Amino acid sequence: MCGIVAYLGEKEAQPLLLEGLRRLEYRGYDSSGMAVLNGGGLHVLKKVGRIQALAAAAEITPLHGSLGISHTRWATHGEPSDRNAHPHVDATGKLALVHNGVIENYASLKKRLITEGHTFTSDTDTEVLAHLIGDHFQKLPANTPSRLERAVMAALREVQGTYGIAVIHQDEPGVLVGARRGSPLVLGIGVGEHFLASDVSAVVAYTQKAVYLNDYDIVTIDRNGFRVSSLTKQSAGFEISAIDFHQADADKGEFPHYMLKEIFEQPQAIQNAIRGRLSHEDSTAVLGGLNMDAKELRGIDRILVTACGTALHAGIVGEHLIESIAQIPVETDFASEFRYRNCPIDRRTLVFVVSQSGETADTLGALREARRKGFRVLGICNNVGSTIARESDGGVYMHAGPEIGVAATKSFTSQVTIFALLALLFGRMRYLSASQGREIIENIEKLPTLIGQVLSQSERIKAIANKYAKSSSMLYFGRLYQYGVALEGALKMKEITYIHAEGYPAAELKHGIIALIDKNTPSVFICPQDSVHDKNMSTIQEIKARKGPIIALATEGDTSVEAIADDVIWLPKAVDYIMPVISSIPLQLLSYYTAVALNRDVDKPRNLAKSVTVE
Ligand code: M6R
Repeated sequence: MCGIVAYLGEKEAQPLLLEGLRRLEYRGYDSSGMAVLNGGGLHVLKKVGRIQALAAAAEITPLHGSLGISHTRWATHGEPSDRNAHPHVDATGKLALVHNGVIENYASLKKRLITEGHTFTSDTDTEVLAHLIGDHFQKLPANTPSRLERAVMAALREVQGTYGIAVIHQDEPGVLVGARRGSPLVLGIGVGEHFLASDVSAVVAYTQKAVYLNDYDIVTIDRNGFRVSSLTKQSAGFEISAIDFHQADADKGEFPHYMLKEIFEQPQAIQNAIRGRLSHEDSTAVLGGLNMDAKELRGIDRILVTACGTALHAGIVGEHLIESIAQIPVETDFASEFRYRNCPIDRRTLVFVVSQSGETADTLGALREARRKGFRVLGICNNVGSTIARESDGGVYMHAGPEIGVAATKSFTSQVTIFALLALLFGRMRYLSASQGREIIENIEKLPTLIGQVLSQSERIKAIANKYAKSSSMLYFGRLYQYGVALEGALKMKEITYIHAEGYPAAELKHGIIALIDKNTPSVFICPQDSVHDKNMSTIQEIKARKGPIIALATEGDTSVEAIADDVIWLPKAVDYIMPVISSIPLQLLSYYTAVALNRDVDKPRNLAKSVTVE
């Protein structure tokens, strides 16, 4: 959602803030703004639109000073506009605040503040928080030690909802205060300088040291250093962590878009997901981060996977993997549903939450609900140090490297690969012999090479994308392992091209969807040579009989599919349980090239944000 960057040090803040915002723009890009403090007071600049609009305004009116806060917005309360952009100031105009999250009781607080004489200039919940903190600040005697920190604490005690904030005040010109509850905030520790940011990609160019703040933490930074206190406890502990990636990992390199770069990074990402996790000696997977011994793992008789969007689709593929290979019943559920329904979980159920960012509000809510009920919850996350990773009882890191493109790509294939490792681990504790385990390992190890083979077809996929780019609707079909891939393919197509697309289990065609088939509605059919190949062929015939164009994903050399499909994308030969990792990649490329053909903003599609940190 929104992105925060704040700086206190010896350098000019403005260029650092703008560069940090560019790094965080994938979190929100409706509008942006910054406030800088110097001897002359507080200076605020805000602009609707992309960061470029703010940078252009800053070129004309530069803000000088070495303490500043900045923000890139994804609108919740109030339309994207200059006046709704952050920072917001208090009644005195001396305090400025940026905020990520939602102040749920903002309406009642606003009403009270209005009766006390405050006037508001925006439609946002954030402006209410700025006024509230400012109000507390004004009520404290001028010589109160840590006056801004105290005002922030007093105000936050009145607030319901979620926040990651950064605040500065003209009367405390060397102080930067940050706080979080439910929305991420990281402290970057540099040499003679400190940063606050929504995630480490904004600060990794300046430091490799960070403190991932916890809910209810307040961090106060001044020219001498920082301290962390807590809204709920007498004292707050903190840990300085090493940031696990470098600036170059978060750059586009020679690629025109992050999405394309991340698609092409998949051989390496999958290699990272399996590195050190396959034991040839024991013919099983080694996943020490689960924090469960063999006896505990053997005691599990049901698995529940909960996540959102792409991560849920990976879970749907994971369900097939674990059920087929390990014979443990698996259920998948939207995190947004799971957190509010009263799902029965017995003591032998293991809950997995899956999240690239590790900050998705619904997934975090599901994790907390399951843990509140006393269940063991394991996380599958990419972002090291993210809230979900920290609050889980254990889990598996993806190690896919930063994923900046709003459309998830390498995180999907990494998540599916991790489910394959889990299936192997659970399977070897139950029904799989050592030789069966060995065979699975050998197949998983082929993945990076097989992915390379699919990627080499990108020009062919580009030509197919150009051919169908004018379609207004597309259907995606797959069965068993390929059903989750069909869902994911359709999500990719709609989110970056804005073409309506839906994924279905192929046999559902006859139960309603067939009414949509006509010569202008292409069907993307994932039809590798697997146990349901013949069934899929019948469904393809039914579509062709109604003049529906078919883009088929078929196993190399499958002449039966080639004879009937309008266009074929070839998949290398592979066993069914690793095929989803391979077959999802041409669908990513198909969406990517379609979006490029339609001149869409691939990395920042309309209305979307990379990390959905509000409900
Ligand atoms: O960071 P998460 O994996 O928790 O994100 C979940 C979804 O918001 C995310 O996968 C979303 O659906 C992507 N835009 C899909 O490309």
